[in-house]
Amino acid sequence: MSYNLLKGKKGIIFGALDEKSIAWNIALKAYEEGAVFTLSNTPLALRFGTVTELSEKCRAEIIPADATNVNELENVFLRSIEVMGGKIDFLLHSIGMSMNVRKSREYDDLDYNFYSKTMDISAMSFHKMIQVAKKLDAINDWGSIVALSYIAAQRTLYRYNDMADAKAMLESIARSFGYIYGREKNVRINTISQSPTRTTAGSGVKGIDALIDFTERMSPLGNATAQECADFCIVLFSDLSRKITMQNIFHDGGFSGMGMSLKAMTQYKKSLEDE
Ligand SMILES: NC(=O)c1ccc[n+]([C@@H]2O[C@H](COP(=O)([O-])OP(=O)(O)OC[C@H]3O[C@@H](n4cnc5c(N)ncnc54)[C@H](O)[C@@H]3O)[C@@H](O)[C@H]2O)c1
Repeated sequence: MSYNLLKGKKGIIFGALDEKSIAWNIALKAYEEGAVFTLSNTPLALRFGTVTELSEKCRAEIIPADATNVNELENVFLRSIEVMGGKIDFLLHSIGMSMNVRKSREYDDLDYNFYSKTMDISAMSFHKMIQVAKKLDAINDWGSIVALSYIAAQRTLYRYNDMADAKAMLESIARSFGYIYGREKNVRINTISQSPTRTTAGSGVKGIDALIDFTERMSPLGNATAQECADFCIVLFSDLSRKITMQNIFHDGGFSGMGMSLKAMTQYKKSLEDE
C-alpha cells in the first residue's frame, strides 16, 4: 500500500546490486511512495549485478561511480540534478566492503591495505558523499541523508572484523556532519542499524546463517527483513521525521535491547545436554 510519503521528492540511491540488496528494496519502496531518483554503483557492480532491471522498474537513471572517488561523486550529484531538474531531498548510502572479511583475515592479523580500503569504502565514502553534496549545495533544506549500519559498531560480534571499525566511524560521521548540515541547512543525517540480512555483503561474513538464527531467537520481534528496513527508511526520508537527526536507530526486532531470551536459552541448553 502506498501512502505517497515521498511524492514530489528527488533522491540518489547508492548501493543497489541485486534484488537481495537493502538499497534495492529501498529503491522499490521509494518508487512506490512517489519519489524520483537516480541509482549509483561501481562500474564492476553494474556489470555483475542486475541494476538495469531495477532502473527500468523505477525509471531511474544509473550513474556509475566509485564512492571513494570525489570527482565521480561530484558527477553523480551534478548529473542527478540535471536529469531530475532540481536539487535532491534524500540520499542513501548503502555501501560496505571489506577485503579482510572476504579473505578471512582475522582481526589480529589484518592486512593494512585492505583495512584502509574497508574504511574508505564503508565509512569515509559517507563523508565524501556528504561533503560533495554540501559544497555543490545539492540538497534541499530539510533533506534527509541515511546510511546503513550494524550493531557491531557498538558491541563486539565475532567475525565482523574490521567492518566493526568502519561502522563505528560511519555512525560518528552521521553525528559530526549531522550537526553542521543541520545547523546550516536543516538537513538531517541518520544511520539505521539493521538486523543481519542475507545479501551479497551480508553473506561475506562467515557464519552468517548461525548469526541470523541467533539474532532471530534473541529478538522479541524477530529479525528485520530488507523490505521492513525499506519501510523504515522511507519514513526517515519523508517529512514525518523532520526533527530526527544525528541518530543511530536500531531496526533489529529488539535484539539490541536483549541479553538472553527464552528461545536462545532453550537452544543453548540443548547444546549443553549434547556434551
Ligand atoms: N546484510 C546485512 O546483514 C547488513 C546488516 C546491517 C547493515 N548492512 C549494511 O547495509 C549496506 C548494504 O549492504 P547489503 O547487505 O545490501 O549488501 P549488498 O552487497 O547488496 O550492497 C553493498 C553494496 O556496496 C557497493 N559497493 C562496494 N564498494 C563500493 C564502492 N567503492 N563504491 C560504491 N559502491 C560500492 C556494492 O557494489 C553493493 O551494491 C552496507 O553498508 C552493509 O554493511 C548490512
